[in-house]
Amino acid sequence: MAAHRPEGPPKLLGVVAEYETPTALVHAAEKVRDAGFQHWDTYTPFPIHGIDPAMGIRPTRLPWIVLCAGLTGLTTAALLQWWTNAVDYPWVISGKPFLSIPASVPVYFELTVLFSALTALGAMIVINGLPEPHHPLDLKERFGRATDDRFFLYIQARDPKFDESATRALLESTHPEDLDDVMEDQSSPAGLPRPLVIGLAALVCAAIVPFVLFVQARQTMTDQPRIHMVPDMDFQLKYKTQKASAFFADGRTVRPQEPATIAVGQLDEDEHLHHGRVEGEYARTFPSALPVDEAAMKRGQTQYDIFCAPCHGLSGAGDGIVSRRAQDKEQSMWVPPTNLTQGYLRRMPVGQMYELIGKGVRNMPAYGPQISIEDRWRIVLYVRALQRAGNATIEDVPAAERGGLN
Ligand code: HEC
Repeated sequence: MAAHRPEGPPKLLGVVAEYETPTALVHAAEKVRDAGFQHWDTYTPFPIHGIDPAMGIRPTRLPWIVLCAGLTGLTTAALLQWWTNAVDYPWVISGKPFLSIPASVPVYFELTVLFSALTALGAMIVINGLPEPHHPLDLKERFGRATDDRFFLYIQARDPKFDESATRALLESTHPEDLDDVMEDQSSPAGLPRPLVIGLAALVCAAIVPFVLFVQARQTMTDQPRIHMVPDMDFQLKYKTQKASAFFADGRTVRPQEPATIAVGQLDEDEHLHHGRVEGEYARTFPSALPVDEAAMKRGQTQYDIFCAPCHGLSGAGDGIVSRRAQDKEQSMWVPPTNLTQGYLRRMPVGQMYELIGKGVRNMPAYGPQISIEDRWRIVLYVRALQRAGNATIEDVPAAERGGLN
């Protein structure tokens, strides 16, 4: 790479032969191959069938290198997913395993492809000995036809088999159009151009900067975003919901609602129907606005099977499929769904159960947004039926039907 300029007369670098047809070149290549040369090459304006075997070129190692890179990428992705999701910051999402292969597939895929692609490019460049800013043959005027209509074969003098007269004689015997010595080029500077070297070195140094920033970011504390390159409209003279206000006397940005304000569609007049209460107490009866009949029970069953059974089980015993899966996985954080047929829930006022469906209770999420008011009541109705069925005794079965039971 250094601009080292050789002393003395120019050295012989090799011998180049020129042919008129691809066939002549292929035959010549076979001879050179059989003579056991290693440092030689052919140059043609277009790809020539059969030149690879004629030159004794072995299949490239590139696929193996890329395979290793791909496997490295896959392993890296697997370790990354395991470390970030299961060790360093475990992701607690009810019932889901910390280390989930399906959820990690995109990452596995991306890193495999990324490592393979970059390695394919880099290894191709290295194996081909690139970049090669100038080549001894560049100076041969006749060699320009290598991109046009002539076929060249170049044997390098550094080849152990190279012998000036013997190699010339070998090439003569292949009947080339022209045979020429390739001498060392002493006119143009050796190695890469200096500005390019400096530019590349600067890029390599610049590539270290992000890592220095990562380390710095891990060591220091700030309440500002560290890098805010495009501020857009992030900083404005405006109030944000939970921030303090110097303007209002109570210091709050969010203004309290005017008493008795009702949003459109939220009149909810019927205390019994909408809030499950009668005179402030949890209702013990179903609201009169809602018929309690077989249709309501059927509707309650379908809605229960959709919204509640996954956790509480089809019979209300608390053994829904989600819960069983969590228990199979031995998830320590899992709170099992309650058995709905047990005593205190049989005594729970229907109004209270209606309310907890809408608002959720402790670890159970709220289903108000998904289930209409009427359907919440119908689900309570169906839960009542499950409770009776789950605690039935022989006395509950009509005498005429007892014969079928054992
Ligand atoms: C995602 C799982 C899940 C679903 C779906 C679910 N529940 Fe629950 N439910 C729970 C869990 C967990 C508890 C226990 C909560 C606790 O103790 O922290 C619970 C508790 C309850 C209780 C007992 C509350 C108490 O005060 O002890 C009732 C009643 C109940 N659920 C009814 C329902 C009904 C009705 C539905 C369908 C609309 C439903 N749940 C849907 C998980 C679920």
